[in-house]
Amino acid sequence: MPEVVGNAQIAGGNGTTGGAAAAVHGSRLDRWVDAYAARTKGMTASEIRALFAVASRPEVVSLAGGMPDLSALPLDVIGTMLARLVTERGRVALQYGSGQGDPGLRERIIDVMAPQQVSAGRDDVVVTTGSQQALDFVTRIFVDPGDIVLAESPSYVGALGVFRAYQAEILHVPMDDDGLIPEALEETLRDLSRTGRRVKMLYTVPNHHNPAGVTLSARRRPLVVDIAARYGVLVLEDDPYGLLGFDGGPLPSLQTLNPEGVIYLGSFSKTFSPGLRVGWAVAPHAVREKLVLASEAAVLCPSAFSQLAVSDYLDNHDWRHQVDLFRAMYRERSRAMLGSLADAIPGARWTIPQGGFYVWVTLPEGLDATAMLPRAVTERVAYVPGTAFYADGQGRRNMRLSYCYPTPEQIREGVRRLAGVIDAELDILRTFAPGTAGRPAAPGASRSGIAFPSPDIR
Ligand SMILES: Cc1ncc(COP(=O)(O)O)c(C=O)c1O
Repeated sequence: MPEVVGNAQIAGGNGTTGGAAAAVHGSRLDRWVDAYAARTKGMTASEIRALFAVASRPEVVSLAGGMPDLSALPLDVIGTMLARLVTERGRVALQYGSGQGDPGLRERIIDVMAPQQVSAGRDDVVVTTGSQQALDFVTRIFVDPGDIVLAESPSYVGALGVFRAYQAEILHVPMDDDGLIPEALEETLRDLSRTGRRVKMLYTVPNHHNPAGVTLSARRRPLVVDIAARYGVLVLEDDPYGLLGFDGGPLPSLQTLNPEGVIYLGSFSKTFSPGLRVGWAVAPHAVREKLVLASEAAVLCPSAFSQLAVSDYLDNHDWRHQVDLFRAMYRERSRAMLGSLADAIPGARWTIPQGGFYVWVTLPEGLDATAMLPRAVTERVAYVPGTAFYADGQGRRNMRLSYCYPTPEQIREGVRRLAGVIDAELDILRTFAPGTAGRPAAPGASRSGIAFPSPDIR
């Protein structure tokens, strides 16, 4: 990973000029290597992070990042609003606030969650620094080292990083085009209950999944909630993309099906601004108290400035219309990506997103998306290899392609370059491993034999 190399070089440089410490530690690159807490063993740089440095070069078409395209935001209006916030309410906006978050913003968050029918009042909401921090707090208060956390197969890389940091054992549960498979969840829980291991949580992204691009069907939602309840497993429902469906509103949340058994996480990152870092958790009363204590211990309070900025935006701007503009923009980009994939990459399969930012691709047999990445970057296109989204090394034949940030023209050019790289890889395979090379990705099966991807996939 580039940044690991970078760190090593910096630390090595210190080591050679650092006097006594250098003498004691010789050529070791990190003099504190024996001192780190055991939990840091799970903390490794994600493949996405390493990629950002390379993929942000202007000549590279990045289909890698999950950044919203903020060009659709009225920056002049927001600039005026922020200036007014400081001049008129600066003594509150620039001050410490409450650990649970600003009551006015919590009230507005209830409106924002109305389409998902989240069952909550403002006292049930805890504001966090992005939903990423809510993931951290929930894991902190529930997960002891060695506890099992269930996550979809594949799962959001940032959540896997949190679970690893708290030394959870992550087990994947298969999904298909309709999201998490209830029968597979039940089977996993049944098997685990026989071993006497404690399953603390089921982590799920039901809407426009990152990275799989699929949505948990209405039929499956009560089944998943019911199975988790029967086995006494808390559900952590992560929903940053719920409002970004291309057609129509979101399905009802899992939380509304069992408010005592589900923690719901939301975020303004994909519908307004990730830079303000405002997300939230809705949790049962007792859990919420613990989340507030975790927040106070970690940061005292979330940023008052960011919270009031979001409140002002919701009050003074037609945010629903803005969300509609984002939806239309991402719909057009998803079509550009799906259209060019269909033209360019025979033998591969991919999911068909109904919203959100991502397409999940399964490459023809014999190809390895991780090994192929440096060649892709040389050809000026970047993606995230599937292995980033598994805790157990699966995903070598998969890649996540994002259509959220590049323009439709850039997307088409990026897919064209990617197709060239895949073609060249297949040529090499045909030369050195004739027979297996380029066999199309089989419908309904992946390397692990799980039912992903399946019917709705090209
Ligand atoms: C599924 C999922 N959860 C959480 C997050 C974190 O979002 P936030 O910016 O609110 O911390 C992301 C960001 O990409 C995400 O995709």
